[in-house]
Amino acid sequence: MDKLIIEGGKPLKGEVKISGSKNATLPVLAATLLTDETCILRNVPKLTDTNTMIKLLKSLGKEIDWDKDKLIIMSNGKVNHIADYKMVATMRGSICVLGPLLTKLGEAKVSLPGGCVIGVRPVDLHIKGVEALGAKVDVDAGYIIAKAKRLKGSRVYLGGASGPSVLGTANIMMAATLADGETIIECAACEPEVEELANFLNEMGARIRGQGSPRIVIQGVKKLHGADYKMAPDRIEAGTFVLLSAMSKSTFMIRDIDYQQLMALDDILIKVGVQVEADKSGVRVKPPKILKPMSITTYPYPGFPTDLQAQYTALMAMANGVSVIRDTVFPDRFMHIAELNRMGARIRREGGSAIIEGVKSLCGAPVVASDLRASAALVMAGLVARGKTEIRRVYHLDRGYENIDKKLIALGASIKREKE
Ligand code: UD1
Repeated sequence: MDKLIIEGGKPLKGEVKISGSKNATLPVLAATLLTDETCILRNVPKLTDTNTMIKLLKSLGKEIDWDKDKLIIMSNGKVNHIADYKMVATMRGSICVLGPLLTKLGEAKVSLPGGCVIGVRPVDLHIKGVEALGAKVDVDAGYIIAKAKRLKGSRVYLGGASGPSVLGTANIMMAATLADGETIIECAACEPEVEELANFLNEMGARIRGQGSPRIVIQGVKKLHGADYKMAPDRIEAGTFVLLSAMSKSTFMIRDIDYQQLMALDDILIKVGVQVEADKSGVRVKPPKILKPMSITTYPYPGFPTDLQAQYTALMAMANGVSVIRDTVFPDRFMHIAELNRMGARIRREGGSAIIEGVKSLCGAPVVASDLRASAALVMAGLVARGKTEIRRVYHLDRGYENIDKKLIALGASIKREKE
């Protein structure tokens, strides 16, 4: 396992390029199971999570190779319907092979992913969705076993206690592409990653409309074909760099960013005094002398993303006053609080909220990364803290941030990666 050693306080300048979207790539990779033809994906981020999905697809029978920066996904026609526990347990995103396997092969046996440090993470909406399309589903020995000769289009409401589900919508949308007749998903997730998956599926010959809205309509087709597709930039990586720029009081150019997707963040940044200049060439952040505190609540898109909650908490840890952060999507996603407090932050948790009293400065400390976005928050804190921060278990970071240390070093940060 690797650890990162950061010497804080170095000014950041120059430019950084945002990689392809992890959360769009995972379901798009799963969607290649819907065809026996070759698919080519461009701008796929080289991350542990994308590698895990590639391994899972290989275990299901796909042949996958990199050709420079292109990922080529081929098939010899034999696809296995069992997604093993060992693969699924390492990454929850693996659940999105359920819909494609079921609709293409007529059966799927996919391990239940289990919980993780950010919460319980149920899959009831995924199961409800495939059942609505006519599948018979059993949960046995830790596996979801779903069967249907051919799925039948239907109207399905996919809202849960915490709103829509991103991967639940992705799963049912993929399942419906090859179903008989029309499927309407109500209370669909509106995340850009769902929209991107629908665009990819349409490139493969699917007939989907309404993506990006809470009502997605899918006309089933008999067969899908191969496609050549370029993944859009990662909005969460982009948002992380925007927040880092504000927190480190440094201005640098952020390229390959779709700032439109970060409206909720932009709205808050204006309120805390951060100016953002966005044009076709990229985004530049003008940090204020004094950062104002501002409370936020996370919501499904287009609300403030839960995947930027930890990084925003790090920013507010240095604001001039008190702010309250509430996470409605994952109310237990607060593992970063204790570690940020080890660095001098003053944050306490009350139920599903974090109450932050801003401090003037943070100091370096040994800390442990608990999950992907919490790790990003610790890196941000380490980069602005006085002295040395040692972050253990950075494999979490490598799940979702491509070449993060190299990108930060290029901006002027002092970071070393060492074996633990
Ligand atoms: C995706 C993202 C993750 C992000 C999350 C919310 C990927 C690979 N991961 O995860 O980074 O944090 O969206 O934006 O794209 N829920 C249920 N029943 C279900 C499914 C979910 O109650 O069957 C609940 C969850 O516990 C949570 C909420 O719905 O409270 C949203 O979760 P969901 O959108 O499903 O998250 P993922 O798609 O797993």
